[in-house]
Amino acid sequence: MNIVLFGAPGAGKGTQSALIVEKLGMVQISTGDLFRAAIKNKTELGKQAQAFMDKGELVPDSVTIQMVDEVLVNLKSKSFILDGFPRTQAQAEGLGKILKQRGLEIGKAIFLEVPKEELLGRLTGRRVCKACGAVYHVQTKPAKVDGVCDNCGGEVVQRNDDKVDVIATRLKTYEDNTLPLRSYYKEQGKYVELNGAQDSDKVFSALKTVVQGG
Ligand code: AP5
Ligand code: MG
Ligand code: ZN
Repeated sequence: MNIVLFGAPGAGKGTQSALIVEKLGMVQISTGDLFRAAIKNKTELGKQAQAFMDKGELVPDSVTIQMVDEVLVNLKSKSFILDGFPRTQAQAEGLGKILKQRGLEIGKAIFLEVPKEELLGRLTGRRVCKACGAVYHVQTKPAKVDGVCDNCGGEVVQRNDDKVDVIATRLKTYEDNTLPLRSYYKEQGKYVELNGAQDSDKVFSALKTVVQGG
């Protein structure tokens, strides 16, 4: 089953997607990760995306939809999880169209519910590996050696957009644009809500049940 995973900045989309990849062998498509890779590689797409990301605003829909379309072309028949896409009504409709063209569909759109008070602490404390993208947290999930990735030995740093003023814009952007997608997927009969404020392994076990069609 193909899945959309959505929720606020810091809701745990990346953390849960990594578990799904590891334990269920699905493919993760994270638009945030794809944009960060483009910035790192100094591509034209990266140049377009950076200004929006640094401010905590959304990259324009047309650019984002096209990027996802290009990834879907190369997927073959693997099941995928969309992490952080779609984030607007236009992206959701665009996704519907490109999937239909390829004879694919989304089975469930899973919303990770986390109270706003919890998000700020998760985002300000988050650290990520520059090399492999592994996600840490200074309090709840520290790297074994400070600043060094457990998986690959890469440098563990703070994301550029995890600064308090940018976080505020990201949360507002999310509330205005992405939260309304709950109704969109409810109308399609695909909406599932999970409690994202529990321990990560509890969230994963609930998520796994949904992904496996339970
Ligand atoms: P993106 O990278 O997707 O950022 P985001 O949506 O703000 O989400 P995050 O990655 O910050 O949070 P997450 O839910 O993945 O949480 P995580 O698992 O890391 O997008 C960045 C930017 O790119 C956007 O602002 C925009 O500019 C652009 N962009 C991306 N997609 C776009 C699109 N579709 N359209 C237009 N523009 C787009 O967890 C966070 C922290 O919490 C970690 O430290 C983790 O260890 C901790 N944590 C996780 N789960 C738990 C738990 N259960 N309990 C306690 N702590 C936990
Ligand atoms: Mg993420
Ligand atoms: Zn790493």
